[in-house]
Formats: sequence, structure tokens, C-alpha cells
Amino acid sequence: MRDRVNGTSPQPVPSQLFRSVMGSFPTGVTVITTVAETGGPVGMTVNAITSVSLEPPQLLICLAKSRYTASAIQSCGRFAVNFLSNDQKEVAGIFASNAEQKFSTVGYHEGVLDLPLINGSLAIAECEVSNVIDAGDHLIFIGEVVSGRATDGMPLVFFRRNYGIWKAA
Ligand SMILES: Cc1cc2nc3c(=O)[nH]c(=O)nc-3n(C[C@H](O)[C@H](O)[C@H](O)COP(=O)(O)O)c2cc1C
Repeated sequence: MRDRVNGTSPQPVPSQLFRSVMGSFPTGVTVITTVAETGGPVGMTVNAITSVSLEPPQLLICLAKSRYTASAIQSCGRFAVNFLSNDQKEVAGIFASNAEQKFSTVGYHEGVLDLPLINGSLAIAECEVSNVIDAGDHLIFIGEVVSGRATDGMPLVFFRRNYGIWKAA
């Protein structure tokens, strides 16, 4: 670590400031779905996602270690990314909640990996976990994409704690 003139080391910023800084980067909104050990569908709203590699096709998601969905993915070894459309704000809210039966009012079908895929999503990627990295209070799951599709439509957008819609500049 670099020495400071006054001999003190830089300290991490407070989490509230970190949230404000990162919230200034607009993202799409996804729901990560998987299958619980009981066999039922589970999922959570996630915007910490990025493409990693083209060959092989890989993406990553960052999930809080404390979340039920993170434990379920560790046991199941696979997950789906449901990229939400601009008319799925309600779906984002349901999957960001602590509700026990998140799928009771959300329609879904099964994909090639027998994962629950949310009807009406803008795009979908089905992934097999190829690596899990421990990062602070989160786990980074790297998934190899074994199936994907994208449809016409517009995305749901998240910026500074608010949902919005995308508009061409
Ligand atoms: C727009 C949005 C994006 C979110 N992104 C993430 C994320 O990237 N990683 C994460 O761990 N939680 C994220 N959350 C919070 C989770 O959705 C929330 O903690 C959820 O209740 C977890 O569900 P579970 O405990 O049933 O797994 C996000 C919430 C919202 C509203």
C-alpha cells in the first residue's frame, strides 16, 4: 500500500457513499433464477452482472452471501439470467422482496437446464456454474452460457434507486 505524507492509509468509503457512487451507473435489471434443494423455483433481482468471456461464453453475477438464492445456486450448480423488459417493474419488485412464494404470481416455463424461466423476459441466458469467487460479503458466480435467446422489446433500467425506461440519445 502506498505511504501517505502524513503516514495514514486511505480508509474504505462508508457504504452509503459507495451505494451513491455505484448507483450513478445505470444498469438493466435481471432476475436470477435457480432450483432450491426442495425442487422448487427460487430467484432474486440482480443488477450486478456483466459479460466475462466470448470463448467460452461466460458471464458473472454478484450475490450477497446471506441471500437464499446464493445458497441455492451453490447447491444446484446452475442458474438462469432473466433480463427484464420495461413492463416487468412489478416482477423486479417481487424478486427483490423477502416473499416466500415469489413465483405464485409470476408465470414461468422450464428451459434446457430445467431452470425456471420468467415469461415475457427481454432475453434469457441459462448457465452452468464454472467458478465461484469469494469477494467481501458477496459471492461472484461465473457461469458458462449453454443456452440463450433475445427477443424484440425494450429493457427495464435502474438508476439511483429508481426504475426507468431506455430512450435513444
Ligand atoms: C434493482 C435491484 C438490483 C439488485 N441487485 C442485487 C445484486 O446485484 N446482488 C444482490 O446480492 N442483491 C441485489 N439486490 C437485492 C436482492 O434482490 C434482495 O436482497 C432479495 O430479497 C434477495 O432475495 P432472496 O433472499 O430470496 O435470495 C437488488 C435489488 C434491486 C431492487
